[in-house]
Amino acid sequence: MIVDAVGRTGRLLDIGCGSGQLLIRCAKASPGEYYGLDRWGEDWEYSRAQAERNVVLEGVPELHFVQGSASCLPFDDGQMQRVVSCLTFHEVRDVEDKTVGITEALRVLAAGGTFVFLDLFDDPRSYPGREHVLETIERAGGEIESARALPELLELRFPLGLGKVLGHAVLVAGTKRRAT
Ligand SMILES: C[S@@+](CC[C@H](N)C(=O)[O-])C[C@H]1O[C@@H](n2cnc3c(N)ncnc32)[C@H](O)[C@@H]1O
Repeated sequence: MIVDAVGRTGRLLDIGCGSGQLLIRCAKASPGEYYGLDRWGEDWEYSRAQAERNVVLEGVPELHFVQGSASCLPFDDGQMQRVVSCLTFHEVRDVEDKTVGITEALRVLAAGGTFVFLDLFDDPRSYPGREHVLETIERAGGEIESARALPELLELRFPLGLGKVLGHAVLVAGTKRRAT
């Protein structure tokens, strides 16, 4: 769903790329320039080496992996034409407000570029409500095309549908507004 919603053209960044699965799928869907950023801390089993190994195993052209935090992306304003992020923003711990990662994602996205974020936006333990998240996206220049709870889009078999797993996940897709 993320690959289809983000479109097929332009430099793409996956924030919190983990083992590179989503980034590799995007790169397989259309050739181009691909960046995967992750903190790769010791609290997760994912690593940069694992992501690089997966790229080789999947036989995709070279992708760029960058270590850093979603809260302070090492990219220029408007450098990306597409930005995706899957189940990462709520994990950002170096800032109190989990929406900082969203604002950063939209900062590095060019006007007219597309974004797709899947995260636990309905989980009160991470966010003060989905409306707050959507307002943050709009304030950061995002024009929301769809915001759908994952359980409405997919049949989540037990235990995936539980609140502690993906029951609070929401898929938000849209474009960055062009200056008027
Ligand atoms: C639930 S995993 C999701 C990984 C991948 N997006 C996926 O869907 O398979 C969360 C990821 O967020 C990364 N992460 C945690 N804190 C981060 C931060 N501050 N900046 C960037 N990535 C972070 C973790 O290293 C981990 O790869």
